Amino acid sequence: MSLSVDIKNAASFADIAPVMAELPAAHDTLVNGTGEGNDFLGWVKLPCNVDPEELARIKAAAEKIRKDSDVLLVIGIGGSYLGARAAIEYCISPNYNLICKDSPKVIFAGNSLSAAQTAEITAMLEGCDWSINVISKSGTTTEPAVAFRIFRGLLEEKYGAAEAAKRIYATTDRARGALKTLANTLAYESFVIPDDVGGRFSVLTPVGLLPIAVAGIDVDEMLAGARDMAAAVAEKSEDNPCWRYAAARNALYRAGYTTEINAAYEPRYRYTAEWWKQLYGESEGKDLKGIFPASVDLTADLHSMGQYIQQGMRNIFETVVSFGSSGAEVNVPFSEDNLDGLNFLAGHTLDEVNSMAAAGTRLAHVDGGVPNISVSIDKPSAYSFGELVYFFEFACGISGYLLGVNPFNQPGVEAYKVNMYALIGKPGYEDRKAELESRL
Ligand code: PA5
Repeated sequence: MSLSVDIKNAASFADIAPVMAELPAAHDTLVNGTGEGNDFLGWVKLPCNVDPEELARIKAAAEKIRKDSDVLLVIGIGGSYLGARAAIEYCISPNYNLICKDSPKVIFAGNSLSAAQTAEITAMLEGCDWSINVISKSGTTTEPAVAFRIFRGLLEEKYGAAEAAKRIYATTDRARGALKTLANTLAYESFVIPDDVGGRFSVLTPVGLLPIAVAGIDVDEMLAGARDMAAAVAEKSEDNPCWRYAAARNALYRAGYTTEINAAYEPRYRYTAEWWKQLYGESEGKDLKGIFPASVDLTADLHSMGQYIQQGMRNIFETVVSFGSSGAEVNVPFSEDNLDGLNFLAGHTLDEVNSMAAAGTRLAHVDGGVPNISVSIDKPSAYSFGELVYFFEFACGISGYLLGVNPFNQPGVEAYKVNMYALIGKPGYEDRKAELESRL
């Protein structure tokens, strides 16, 4: 395991020991499946229980898409979107679509209701060979369903219905939902999202694995990283990195630090932080409780949010993920004229400068009253992404139980949907429509 968690700069702000004492019970509740939401624990053993047949089908589909498509359009939202995007950006680059040479571009749609975004994607597909991976566990979510209707129409227009059907891959529930019905009726190749894995815990299922494999990322390595992390965090010990993270953040929360900022000094981490926000926000933000999960990109945001972090309201703490190396070696060159005054950096690697920026910032923020949790991991790779995913998922499960909530439901997500359906005139919502319209 290459991951470690340093909580000394959290321990100076909050008493972690009493929370640590609650960890054995929270850990047992999760692994023995005795807590609320225990019908959604399929992700706990997922990396060890991969169905070899399903994995082989995923790889074969990815190979076909890599051969016959310039673009894979991935349609999904929330847990059916963020994990794959995070993995591609983390393992390859946020500029993946600009630098991919032998792999198809991966374009994400259905994660908004923006007409401008949809029109832009339509224009980008012009003249390309493309395929669709439509992903929805419920099979009924409005954003991806609308996008799929639009892009399926375009694909059928381009290739004819029969050929288009061979270019559509549906990742959805085993039996239920409109998408499953469509996939069965139109004979799309389908992949199953297990019943007992919620959307935000699904990146290591076909939800994430198919688009990730299309981008040319080694999914076996990713699963190996997750499997090794699962073995490491199964241990009931105060050295367990999930225990350290869960205990520190809950101790801070109880001491009044109600916002957690997840950060890294690598731009490729940005969507991993987006994925993390969904994981923790949906899992813990309920029953009028929960740490508000936020994120910043460093060092970029030191020139925007840095002011607030240093001197704003003192209810925030940071969880900073750092990498052993960026995976690239770039040196600051010597300059004869030294007009920019930077020769004191000449000969240093950019990684060294970046890590000094991180160390200096950590000390400044801690001195300014911002507790810090440091998560260190090896360089970005498919393996370390798998490790990081499992680490944050397992920590989230036990952290939710420490907080006293059901970490595996998301009842609050329904409220906006009901209002949207009512306002847009979905049959069955007539009374609600009248009531809402009277308030608009
Ligand atoms: O984590 C969750 O359950 C949600 O965020 C879902 O992933 C999101 O709402 C998309 O749902 P679906 O996959 O059913 O379209």
